[in-house]
Amino acid sequence: MKATRLKSSKPSARTKSTEAFLSRVSLVVVTGASSGIGGALIKAILEIRPTITVCNLSRKKPDFFSKESTAHYGVDLTDNVSLEGAADWAQAKIIKAAPGEILLINNSGFGDYGPFAERDRIKQLKMIDLNVKAVVDLTSRLLPQLLERGGSVVNIASTAAFQPTPQMATYAASKAFVLNWSLALNEELRETRVHALAVCPGPTRSNFFKAAGFASPPGEGGLNKWLDMTSEEVAVRTLRALVRGQTLVVTGWKNLLIASLHRFVGKEQCARIAGLAMRKLRLEQFYGQSKGSDV
Ligand SMILES: NC(=O)c1ccc[n+]([C@@H]2O[C@H](COP(=O)([O-])OP(=O)(O)OC[C@H]3O[C@@H](n4cnc5c(N)ncnc54)[C@H](OP(=O)(O)O)[C@@H]3O)[C@@H](O)[C@H]2O)c1
Repeated sequence: MKATRLKSSKPSARTKSTEAFLSRVSLVVVTGASSGIGGALIKAILEIRPTITVCNLSRKKPDFFSKESTAHYGVDLTDNVSLEGAADWAQAKIIKAAPGEILLINNSGFGDYGPFAERDRIKQLKMIDLNVKAVVDLTSRLLPQLLERGGSVVNIASTAAFQPTPQMATYAASKAFVLNWSLALNEELRETRVHALAVCPGPTRSNFFKAAGFASPPGEGGLNKWLDMTSEEVAVRTLRALVRGQTLVVTGWKNLLIASLHRFVGKEQCARIAGLAMRKLRLEQFYGQSKGSDV
């Protein structure tokens, strides 16, 4: 009888090259490992190399943090003063860490869904503080130590970075900043031992859509059953890209296709198409309108 190979449903990042890559890393500083993509990334790293020290910066402590090698600093990264304290704490952890490379993962972020004219001004500004300012500030503070020891800066952007996105205008623009900034930073770091990776996930099941104010995220916290990925899948693709030394990864071919739209139709048309799609989505969200409704 022919032996059948069972395909594991849980994606795994464990390969010889990932193990070799992580064996060079002594400490990871991550923002937002308390949920979604950040949590999945850290779980994947610890599964392969449990001895790596992980320092998390977010408001809530990740529920899987229990070992001595995991440390949490409770911080609201939208607050400049609190961020400074958190960065000092991370710098001290790096000084004490065993010899080895440092991984900085700028992951914390949130969105806000709806027409800009109706959005809360303070929430929009806090989004820029977290998605943009905290990324630049934290990286700027920790980069000297990364340059000394070698390492990587992983910046979680989004496929929203590739086109203007009505109904999420500020969020998409904040991620366009992260994408372009990360690519430019990597170029500047070319002659050093530090490398930057921009990660562009598409819709991913996590707390993101709830936090962004979507009324009823379909399918376990995702956006669209055809497009949705799990945070674990995004984590695996991120680690693979990191190990390969990529500077940019768009997670999955469907997301790559959507992210390429602007090349064929230009930015203005892209904004129009995204606007129609997001408006339809909005009506479905709030009024339960089905496919083919008069938008
Ligand atoms: N899910 C998607 O569809 C998707 C797609 C593309 C890109 N992304 C990006 O992926 C990243 C992770 O999002 P996710 O999908 O994993 O969403 P999530 O489950 O909502 O996780 C967001 C993380 O950000 C942290 N955070 C939020 N506000 C913070 C603050 N003021 N200070 C410090 N940390 C804060 C949260 O931690 P605390 O609440 O403990 O502070 C949480 O750990 C974000 O940058 C997001 O923009 C997500």
